[in-house]
Amino acid sequence: MARIIAGVTSSHVPAIGAAIDNKKTEEPYWKRVFSGFEKSKEWMAKAKPDVVIAVYNDHASAFSVELIPTFALGCAAEFPPADEGWGPRPVPVVKGHPALASHIAQSVILDEFDLTIVNKMEVDHGLTVPLNLMFGSPKEWPCPVIPLAVNVVVYPPPTGHRCYMLGRAIRKAVQSYPEDLRVVVMGTGGMSHQISGPRAGLINSKFDKAYLDGLTRDPKKLTRIPHVEYMREAGAEGIEMVMWLIMRGALDDKVKEVYRFYTVPASNTAVGHIILENIDRKTKSRRPASVRGAAMGKRAAATATLPLGARASRPHS
Ligand SMILES: [Fe+2]
Repeated sequence: MARIIAGVTSSHVPAIGAAIDNKKTEEPYWKRVFSGFEKSKEWMAKAKPDVVIAVYNDHASAFSVELIPTFALGCAAEFPPADEGWGPRPVPVVKGHPALASHIAQSVILDEFDLTIVNKMEVDHGLTVPLNLMFGSPKEWPCPVIPLAVNVVVYPPPTGHRCYMLGRAIRKAVQSYPEDLRVVVMGTGGMSHQISGPRAGLINSKFDKAYLDGLTRDPKKLTRIPHVEYMREAGAEGIEMVMWLIMRGALDDKVKEVYRFYTVPASNTAVGHIILENIDRKTKSRRPASVRGAAMGKRAAATATLPLGARASRPHS
């Protein structure tokens, strides 16, 4: 039986991709960002998922105003990188998992979530940047990736509650897939940012950090945040964070937070990142070793947090 072992959230700032592609990751500005993902890559290398389900939003690359699916599930065998105006990013073609994706589509649609099935799609930075942050820059991505594109670009996006419940349905679908697959779900986008208008450049670290806390401890509280509150507190593009609730809904109610990182800014965006593991005693021996207790780089340590158990004596920044 397939099972979801963990969930990961990550911002998907396009400038992060540009920094990777233009080999600027060691520059001080960008090193601050990338150092926060060093332990994440170690965690992912140990986790070795068989499949990743990556929740992201398309930025008018695969879709346009002519076609705006609320939830679009990639069921194809592969998804080439999109040309976002500077040519396709020099990243590997994303290999899908058509069998599991089709199974999820069937299960979720019969559970009354009206997914759009996508059999041909290019994927943009919304998906490829988080893959880089978690896997580095390999010649081939180490496992199949099922893209789930969510409309958070054109009003109305789905509610946080709808996203959370879709995550629940995805978990049920994965758990009914007969093959023994270990699945990681990624929720991307955010955190607070606004790219245009009088409030362009808005960052709200207080809101972001409370959101990260809620994601671990009380995600149902987050499902009650209305769109207008995301807009007011986290900026127009902060609405991307509803996608994180699909990831969280796909996990167990109680999870173990094994890593967190937050830094401001990357380009004009607050970067937030968290890794949550399902607590499954039956699979304990197969679960990845967490990054708990691992030494962190000096810069990462400035903003990365310790595991939950350690917080009583050391609050996160
Ligand atoms: Fe985005």
